[in-house]
Amino acid sequence: MKMEPFALERWMTTWETRVQYDLAESGIHPLRARDLLDLLPDAERASALHALLDLRLGYSEARGTEALRGLLAATYRDAAPDEILVTTGAIEANFLLFQLLLEPGDHVVACYPAYQQLYSVPRGLGCEVAYWRAREEDGFRFDVDDLARLVTRKTRLIVLNTPHNPTGAALSDADVRRVYALADAAGATVLSDEAYRWLDVPGGEPPAPPMFDLGARGISVGTVSKPFGLPGLRIGWLAAHGDVGARCWALRDYVSLSPGRLSDALAVIALRHRERIVERSRQIIAANLATARRWFAARAGLADWHPPRGGLVGLLRYHVPLPSLDLANLLAERYSVMLAPGSAFGYEHRLRIGIGQDPAVFAAGLERTGECFAGLARTA
Ligand SMILES: Cc1ncc(COP(=O)(O)O)c(C=O)c1O
Repeated sequence: MKMEPFALERWMTTWETRVQYDLAESGIHPLRARDLLDLLPDAERASALHALLDLRLGYSEARGTEALRGLLAATYRDAAPDEILVTTGAIEANFLLFQLLLEPGDHVVACYPAYQQLYSVPRGLGCEVAYWRAREEDGFRFDVDDLARLVTRKTRLIVLNTPHNPTGAALSDADVRRVYALADAAGATVLSDEAYRWLDVPGGEPPAPPMFDLGARGISVGTVSKPFGLPGLRIGWLAAHGDVGARCWALRDYVSLSPGRLSDALAVIALRHRERIVERSRQIIAANLATARRWFAARAGLADWHPPRGGLVGLLRYHVPLPSLDLANLLAERYSVMLAPGSAFGYEHRLRIGIGQDPAVFAAGLERTGECFAGLARTA
């Protein structure tokens, strides 16, 4: 298997420990372990803390504990705990699914631009990957008519990500049903990366149902990283019908074996208090969207964007004469601000901006970005 370098991850690791204002991050400002425990009523908090401290740190149940799989299954329509496989983040779930479902020469349709794993791994496996490209006009949108032109009777897998990284596009209820119908007609499977589930933008369209809920060909991938701000737990999952989960589990025996026991236990607390954690995430998003709206309004001519329709990221377009990688490096080095270069997603004169950062850091980072843009515009 020949893998292309994961361009964004390579760039992020250069700067992420060195900058003060990380607006490239695609998640929500992380919770502390203490914040999770503080969600519990006083009487329960003390016993939960003791249970965590007394947890014997042996290997955990390989598929994820029954408690965690039960809580995750309850977030889908008619899912059984055995249809859930807990993985090392959504990234492992995607990787296992590609390994299981694809053979060299298979035809795959993947959304583009995208989190690079979603098309680079199928390519690395020797598949023929057709891109379902986001349409830029009128904001970023994926048009299901475009997908219909790409799916053939040879297509084995359709790969989606909704809400979408990096454009902030989100498929509607009607869209995901049409995607499923196309897959069904072609005899293909749909892998829907729903890493940004539960992160609907306030006032936007109601979220589409998870792909698992639509039928036997639908697979949903989820994570506690993005919606809950818990990427350090490295807990993700897949929800799949039939024996797909069991077969991914058999592959995972060779990779990570089982989820971390402490992470599984903390994820159980997070899932039990999902509504409150997601409410915190929504408040951060609302605050940062308001800041961004003011910032863009004050910088007409220098930068613009289409605010995300869902999830935590969007693409900012700038009007200073520098390629995105040079601009991102300049911002990081001189202004201590990280905004991800659009070139990592195949887009020039764009930077990906995350709206999940701590609101004070987000506002200060944007201020510095404004100074950088204004300085460049003066000298252009
Ligand atoms: C679309 C998408 N899928 C998967 C992942 C990986 O998430 P996790 O931390 O759960 O492995 C990311 C992380 O940025 C992502 O944006």
